[in-house]
Amino acid sequence: MSLTEAAPLDLDWVRSRFPALRSDWVLMDNAGGSTPLGAAVDRIAEYLRRWPVQLGASYTPSAEAGELQAEARAGLAGLFASGGGPVPSPGQIAIGASTTSLLSRLARALAPTLVAGDEIIVTDADHEANIGPWLRLQSQGVVIRWWRIRPDSMQLELDDLDALLTARTRLLCFTHASNLLGSALDIKAIAARARTAGARCCVDGVAYAPHRALAFAEWGVDWYAFSLYKVFGPHCAVLCSSPEGAGMLANLNHEWMQPSDAAGRLEAGAYPYELAWGAAAVPAYLEALGAHHGGSAFAAIEAHECTLTTRLLDWLAPRPGIRIIGAPAAGPGRLPTVSFVTSRAAPQAVVAHTDSAQVGIRHGHFYAPRLVEALGLERATGVVRVSLAHYNTLAEVERLISALDGAL
Ligand SMILES: Cc1ncc(COP(=O)(O)O)c(C=O)c1O
Repeated sequence: MSLTEAAPLDLDWVRSRFPALRSDWVLMDNAGGSTPLGAAVDRIAEYLRRWPVQLGASYTPSAEAGELQAEARAGLAGLFASGGGPVPSPGQIAIGASTTSLLSRLARALAPTLVAGDEIIVTDADHEANIGPWLRLQSQGVVIRWWRIRPDSMQLELDDLDALLTARTRLLCFTHASNLLGSALDIKAIAARARTAGARCCVDGVAYAPHRALAFAEWGVDWYAFSLYKVFGPHCAVLCSSPEGAGMLANLNHEWMQPSDAAGRLEAGAYPYELAWGAAAVPAYLEALGAHHGGSAFAAIEAHECTLTTRLLDWLAPRPGIRIIGAPAAGPGRLPTVSFVTSRAAPQAVVAHTDSAQVGIRHGHFYAPRLVEALGLERATGVVRVSLAHYNTLAEVERLISALDGAL
């Protein structure tokens, strides 16, 4: 379905599902963390009330809790195929506290497969969660190659990647979308290049997953992680491994346990069961949203986000002294995350203005300090970032604009 065919988002229907939106605040720091679905909150409370037990025993509440966890994991697996392709098996999905902790575990689990001289490519456009764990492997002789952003186009160019791939490249780690630039990469094309060179791909999907459907199997990457607390759920995260990728993982679990799947190898003990059960409200919500709009949830989400982003960028871009950090116009591949700096005020001063108007945005480097510096900006002050979600309204964007008007 094209954007123009998508039914307009029924914002009353959408917003009624998010209790925190019944507030005087406009919440536009969604790339930092979205507000959770009421259903997620209810499910967490219900789980803690009714199944306050450990898994794996034969008594009924424990057995029931095990069934609920299997159901939750299967639901979360479905998110990785919301845009097509086969649904990964539940064992491919590792659940953890955060994407940062899951990617660190992944690096530990892959470390034994790497020898001195093996190469890993990382980018300077990523959040540190998908850089730091790989840099730490240098202590065992792994060589890091940097896929660097072009400061003029603010893009990672495929030609630059081609020059980095060698016979020693084992892994390519990159972000699906920058949490600062708001631009999405063509991960299928990137993964195809990596595969041809014999390398595997680890993708940070945190900034992409709240906005567009996922098609993990079709993209041909080996690992893909995102955080549920940025996709309308609670504070937990998921990492999907391809069957081949799963087969490479060392077991991080207790030595007497020899799990055959990625979940068992990476999870190492309990994960937050109640949060996983709460997070399973997300696939249910997206399914209901799609049904309510007579099609795909993400088609309606994308069209609405595009309307909001267009209004904001059209107002912002022509203003004197403004530098948009990212694509200056909305369009396909442009997510509703808009960063900018202005010659007229420091980022902190701009945000102080919006704070006082009860519009929640943020400034800083957003844990992507290498990107900020690569673009010639100050790590200490960073950028102003407005990160919209589909539950934001045009009226809220107008409120933001009025607040910014006084500061810019
Ligand atoms: C693009 C991106 N990747 C990774 C992370 C880290 O996620 P988590 O907080 O779940 O570790 C973030 C968090 O802001 C992010 O924006």
